[in-house]
Amino acid sequence: MRFLTGLQPSGQLHIGNYFGAIKSAVELQEKGEAFYFIANYHAMTTMDSAETLRNNTIDLAIDFLACGLDPQKAVLFAQSAVPEVNELAWILSTVCPMGLLERCHSYKDKIAKGFSPNHALFAYPALMAADILLYNSDAVPVGKDQKQHLEVTRDLAGKINDMFGGEIFKLPEALISEVTAIVPGLDGQKMSKSYGNTLPIFGEEKPLRKLINKKIVTDATPLESPKPTEGSIILALYKLFATPEQYEEMVAAHQRGGVGYGQFKKDLFEAYWEYFRTAREKRAWLVANPDYVKQVLSDGAARAREEAAKTMTRVREVVGLTWC
Ligand code: ADP
Ligand code: TRP
Repeated sequence: MRFLTGLQPSGQLHIGNYFGAIKSAVELQEKGEAFYFIANYHAMTTMDSAETLRNNTIDLAIDFLACGLDPQKAVLFAQSAVPEVNELAWILSTVCPMGLLERCHSYKDKIAKGFSPNHALFAYPALMAADILLYNSDAVPVGKDQKQHLEVTRDLAGKINDMFGGEIFKLPEALISEVTAIVPGLDGQKMSKSYGNTLPIFGEEKPLRKLINKKIVTDATPLESPKPTEGSIILALYKLFATPEQYEEMVAAHQRGGVGYGQFKKDLFEAYWEYFRTAREKRAWLVANPDYVKQVLSDGAARAREEAAKTMTRVREVVGLTWC
């Protein structure tokens, strides 16, 4: 079973990304062959600084490794290290109806967020289909928002199979984790970069402590009174990091009263800080050893290119791009 997923290098990772994507991707490396890539061609659709793109790409590789991705088990690479993906995207584009792309939410969402309409944003699902089909992926772990792109991928793969005869592409399955709850942001909306309400996975202790202390929204219940547990952002976040006993104890303390929000936030910070301790230490080592990170990416790219070359030899032949 081959799992493949891509993550855009669009900035500092937050705990929503961790619990919604990274954690389960890392767990899957034990269950099959994992191919994970940093979607830097995709990120170009919304980013215009070469420096930022380069730094974010390396940072995301570091974050993945710090969070437990094991390069002995999983293949980690940058999308741009396998430029064949663009050729496949072009081939898929030739069978991709405009109507299919016009129906995709992601383009409309990006335009609504103020990005200027361009061809790459519009054609994004064809490149994503190429990402998946190039590596003969069986299952693609993604968030719900990407489900439609998996449908486009299956559609395009089916069209090529029908048109050129036979099993040229496998039809990949989306692996959508229904159990992953949406992680709330510091203001209670969904945690997202676009809302500026994130709690980063990594960062300096003091500012992060301050972020939790100052930014988490609470009501004005006095210290001595019982506090609502329903809809509590502190409790929802604490549950992610604390043991079940610690969590129950905080629920009970809310119900009893006599403990202020300041203390709850302090407890939340400690649990969060402890939860990512190992990852943070690993990250510090990786930052100090950039050659190791580059080697991982270069080994991953070599492995990914082997797969890509096999697919492209087959595809170029069946669609008539070779003649000897
Ligand atoms: P953002 O909303 O911050 O821009 P992305 O859209 O880049 O995040 O998400 C990358 C991955 O992280 C996706 O798989 C997405 O489902 C997951 N993810 C992002 N935010 C959350 C959240 N608040 N709760 C759960 N998963 C999330
Ligand atoms: N579109 C995905 C996102 O924005 C990232 C991505 C690009 C991806 N190519 C992929 C995910 C292939 C899974 C498979 O989150």
